[in-house]
Amino acid sequence: MEKTRLLTGRKKKIVRLFIILFALSLMILSILPLIKTWEFPALFLLLGRFHPLILHFPIVLIIAVFGIELLKNFDRFKPMASARLVLLIMASISSTITTIAGFLLFASGDYSGELINNHFWGGLITGIGILLATLFFYLRQRFSIQYQLPYFITLAICNISLAYTSHMGGMATHGQDFLTEYIPEVMSSFKLIEQKSPEEMLIYSDMVAPILEAKCLSCHNENKSKGDFLMTSYEQLLSGGKSEKAGLTPGDVEKSELFQRINLPADHDDRMPPAGKTPLNDNELALIKSWISSGAPEKTKLGEIESETELGKVVQQNMDEVVRLNRQLAIRKMEKEELKKELQELGKKLDIFIEEDPDEEGNLFAISMNFPPAPFTNEQFQKLSPYFDNFSKASLVSSDIDDNGLYYIGKMTNLKKLYLQKTGINGSGLIHLKKLKSLQILNLSHTNVDDAQALTLIQFPSLKKVYLFDTNNSKNLVEAINKHQPDMDVILEEGPFY
Ligand code: HEC
Repeated sequence: MEKTRLLTGRKKKIVRLFIILFALSLMILSILPLIKTWEFPALFLLLGRFHPLILHFPIVLIIAVFGIELLKNFDRFKPMASARLVLLIMASISSTITTIAGFLLFASGDYSGELINNHFWGGLITGIGILLATLFFYLRQRFSIQYQLPYFITLAICNISLAYTSHMGGMATHGQDFLTEYIPEVMSSFKLIEQKSPEEMLIYSDMVAPILEAKCLSCHNENKSKGDFLMTSYEQLLSGGKSEKAGLTPGDVEKSELFQRINLPADHDDRMPPAGKTPLNDNELALIKSWISSGAPEKTKLGEIESETELGKVVQQNMDEVVRLNRQLAIRKMEKEELKKELQELGKKLDIFIEEDPDEEGNLFAISMNFPPAPFTNEQFQKLSPYFDNFSKASLVSSDIDDNGLYYIGKMTNLKKLYLQKTGINGSGLIHLKKLKSLQILNLSHTNVDDAQALTLIQFPSLKKVYLFDTNNSKNLVEAINKHQPDMDVILEEGPFY
């Protein structure tokens, strides 16, 4: 009571000003959710852009007050207690401004979705929470200790919702997995560190095979065996390929086609890997040479190889590189497995079929419709957008994709084969597909594409085959395309579905 009377005229004015400010802030925040669809002039939208900058002030201030509450009973932090009211007022003002700016940013329409909705509500609760905490704190200081509990509760709620809101905001600006992005890599490096020690590694599977896997397997695997030469197992190396020369003859480099090919001069036609691919370096060449010379052992451990021998020396030289290569391969394998799992789950949700594209050694994926096909619209197709880079083939036969959907397909940068027969497209969206630098096969049979629209096809950079059976296209068009693009085959057949 004493205190109340002691307030001077000037102080009273300041208090009154703060009360008005407080009421105004509380009012604005409370009506924000009601004015969602209002059209804002550009100046307001500009203010919205400051949200990501100013949001740091309330965050620091709100956490600071909470910190002081926790620490003030320790002597060393006692003096800070007197700063609480000022910090709370600053937190309230900056929170209100931040929340309004955030709302304006939201109103600009650049951001939307559930994440932003949650972020908005979290921000609102934080803003109102800190205003109420400030009010209760003031009442407690001025009038009665009974406001202590409401003050603590509102301050705690405010801090919890602050953490939640910041996390939602972070995900919205940096992507959902911003925080967790590197966890698989970190985990895998832990896993590999507890893996085999170098002495325990096997000369073939841990040292030779990873080199072949990195430099040769893209062309010599189960799905694609160039020269009929498979290199995925030790036995296959022994048996060789089309030439019927042994790929590998233990103890004899002269009779090992594998070594002969990698040892040819760089400009030789038969040299492996072919021109344009990363060749083996000197260490790798030396390793494979002395490995074959010493009998191409399969199960020998690196620890068992005498360090004085020729093989022992090259093994030593290659050690660091091999450990690095093994780790890289393991990480890549794990990432691929993870991606595959995510895609297959998404496929199940969308009722479509997603699998590794066998033509791409499983590095890229293929989409196809289930049979009988479930409805699959542009909107559903868009759900795949975070993964667009990972597809090489899309078979959307009989789906509900239309010309607007082609805009999204135009973003599948690695797409090579696209099957659109029996869809509702008329070709007006084909223009979006000319960005696809790798698109080689396009099937438009049984659609309403007409000559004018199909003429866009001559602008496609890599298109080799177009199927136009049962469309509105004339012989003239076929001739026109053949004339402008001799490399492009226009085929009036149904063509493949997958
Ligand atoms: C870019 C694809 C590609 C890569 C990578 C590649 N090869 Fe080949 N390889 C071919 C082709 C194509 C042939 C068949 C034509 C020929 O015989 O030259 C072939 C043939 C071979 C043959 C002959 C098989 C036979 O019996 O006729 C051997 C041996 C071989 N490769 C070894 C290798 C080795 C070792 C590597 C890795 C260092 C490698 N290749 C990497 C494309 C590749």
